[in-house]
Amino acid sequence: MWWRDAVVYQVYLRSFADSDGDGVGDLDGLRTRLDYLVELGVDGIWLNPCYPSPGADHGYDVADYMDVDTRYGGLPAFDRLLADAHARGLKVFMDLVPNHCSVEHPWFQAALAGDRPARERFIFRPGRGDEPPNNWRSVFGGSAWTRVGDEWYLHSFDPGQPDFNWRNPEVGAYFEDVLRFWFDRGVDGFRIDVVHMLFKHADLPDWPHHPEYNILAQNQPEVHEVLRRWRKLADARERTLVGEIWVPTVGDLALYLRPDELQQAFYFDLLVCPWDASRFRASIDRGLEEIVSTGAVITWTLANHDVHRTVSRFGLVSRTGGPDTRPRGVVDVELGVRRARAAMMLVLALPGSVYLYQGEEAGLPEVMDLPDEARQDPTWFRSGRTEHGRDGCRVPLPWTPTGPSFGFSPSARTWLPQPDWFGAFAIEDQTARPGSTWSLHRDALGMRPGFDGPLEWLPTGRQDVLAFRRGEMICVTVFGDEPYPVEWGTPVLASADVRAGAVAPASSAWFRG
Ligand code: GLC
Repeated sequence: MWWRDAVVYQVYLRSFADSDGDGVGDLDGLRTRLDYLVELGVDGIWLNPCYPSPGADHGYDVADYMDVDTRYGGLPAFDRLLADAHARGLKVFMDLVPNHCSVEHPWFQAALAGDRPARERFIFRPGRGDEPPNNWRSVFGGSAWTRVGDEWYLHSFDPGQPDFNWRNPEVGAYFEDVLRFWFDRGVDGFRIDVVHMLFKHADLPDWPHHPEYNILAQNQPEVHEVLRRWRKLADARERTLVGEIWVPTVGDLALYLRPDELQQAFYFDLLVCPWDASRFRASIDRGLEEIVSTGAVITWTLANHDVHRTVSRFGLVSRTGGPDTRPRGVVDVELGVRRARAAMMLVLALPGSVYLYQGEEAGLPEVMDLPDEARQDPTWFRSGRTEHGRDGCRVPLPWTPTGPSFGFSPSARTWLPQPDWFGAFAIEDQTARPGSTWSLHRDALGMRPGFDGPLEWLPTGRQDVLAFRRGEMICVTVFGDEPYPVEWGTPVLASADVRAGAVAPASSAWFRG
């Protein structure tokens, strides 16, 4: 069960590396950088969706679940990538998007043409006069319904992403075929998009409360039966499923991790935690009590393609708006980098698996000030251009300090503009520099196996300092501004210098002893 303590690197393909100069990352671009990922020391990659898609939500609107978009190199490039990754011992996870497809999917095209059985695969309903069937809101803003003739279809996200009707058995059978197709091709597992949303309340009643969290549109008990079927398919081939699940409590999350359901689900509880020792401690304890105690593992993560980069969340010194996952305001980048390095060391020392988001290993900040005309996230448009959305964490990576597109592409083109300051975070520059954020990640990944066994908190005598032991390794994290005198064993790695026998402010250090 390699995945129980694996470190997986998330590749947002459009922005990782471009091989053909069109300004959009692709599979051959990724393939030529696999050695880089081996050098970093990760166990595998998770690829955001690379299926044919018109791109209403950059691939999360899938037109064909059993093919790869030619813009990324098509199936031949995918097979090359898979072979080369496996030759290097890297696992490859794809992204399964079962809640919705694209309006260009043949099923939805047939539904639009009025075919009744095809409409039954989606959620079509008559309106209430000129009003939609109910008051549900799309996650990206606006109504969750779009009118087609005298009926409306439900889309929990963009109108280009019609929700499937999971109460129709044809939908379940179809996705089992999809899983088999990719498993047979050699894919090691799937990250599964918005697992908690597959089923909606059968009667689709109005949601009378705050639109942000509509429990009628998600987390219905029927979903667990689907996961049990998928788990059987995965187990028969030793494949792994990791869920993206946003539910109100850790207890709710644990239900998806029962022994016959998903092996993994991201632990977003910690991802939304502010830089505060007691909040981190409480979140870690919740996970240990409610997930680890059941025999399941925690899948830690601090960043992904939907949230502000760690540096900018932890470096925020005054907040002006935005949701908790994407707070806006003034960022102290130096402080953010310092804290992000410390947080990464803390998370890598915890029991369980860790997902890193591309660029995190270079301490890359969020691009907060993209020009409005460059923004592409549907959130931006559907919020009436008030909610910036997720483009700022998706800007193509800087590989080199200079040059056109900072080494991302052979051309100067990039699908989102890179800011001038990106070069200062160039990855290749950091790989050659001891002490860089990249080198710290590489060293931490190398030493991480030393943390072994259950976590035991150590008393620190300070509210802003957390320390724990696992086996012979100890992790100390100082959240506050005062150095913390060291009493435990030999320092082996630190996110900032351990000077004069003290762990520095806003840093982590690992000790053996
Ligand atoms: C998930 C994805 C996000 C996407 C949404 C709809 O939350 O991570 O990027 O927009 O689902 O598929």
